[in-house]
Amino acid sequence: MNSRRKQILKELSLTPIWHLKPDTPKQKEIPASLSTKVEDLTIPLNPEENTQQSQKIHSMNWKQLKSAVSHCVACPLSAARTHTVFGIGDENADWLFVGEGPGAREDATGEPFVGQAGKLLDQMLAAIELKRGDRVYITNIVKCRPPNNRNPSLHEARQCKLYLTRQIELIKPKLIVALGKIAAQNLLGSEDSISSMRGKIHHYSGIPLIVTYHPAYLLRALPEKAKAWKDLCFAQSIMQSLT
Ligand code: URA
Repeated sequence: MNSRRKQILKELSLTPIWHLKPDTPKQKEIPASLSTKVEDLTIPLNPEENTQQSQKIHSMNWKQLKSAVSHCVACPLSAARTHTVFGIGDENADWLFVGEGPGAREDATGEPFVGQAGKLLDQMLAAIELKRGDRVYITNIVKCRPPNNRNPSLHEARQCKLYLTRQIELIKPKLIVALGKIAAQNLLGSEDSISSMRGKIHHYSGIPLIVTYHPAYLLRALPEKAKAWKDLCFAQSIMQSLT
């Protein structure tokens, strides 16, 4: 790269420029089920259709929204689902917990967080004197199961975001708790690491939002439970200051 190009990239804040070292081993191939296909990242709707769709969803009541989600075919995840997983709980909840996407058990039952991670989430709620359905609503970034529990793609999350946004408008929670990196990054439109997002008050459409670890991660990384406990205490203190 010539020095003029380097200078331009620097001016545009597009540096540092990373180069592969000559002896860098070839990257392992990612199994198809875990990768995001390039075409998944294209937005199929033209901007006008997207705006119309967004306006339509924006005016829906609960019944209409649930029906729209259950019939949704806006992204490839719809093809393999057994059930859509809309969300569950108090529709006027103060607390909104947002996970990543349904797993196998959730796909089979249509209810979020019913597997092992769900059991831990219930314990986390109990630790701050909350319980599913009582002042609490639980949902996910995407409403259909990503195959093999891979992360939802940008396109899938974007399509589903209209539904999540409407759920949040209808619930009007006082506090949102993002469970894990994927939920936090999608809600905040950020690529920051979970460790840098924890311990701060963020906002989603003016609603305070905090970030903690996903319960499925905590099942694999038990020592991190202490940090999650700290996050829950932090969330509780925010809620107390709001009510
Ligand atoms: N993990 C999630 O993120 N959501 C669920 O509903 C279940 C597991």
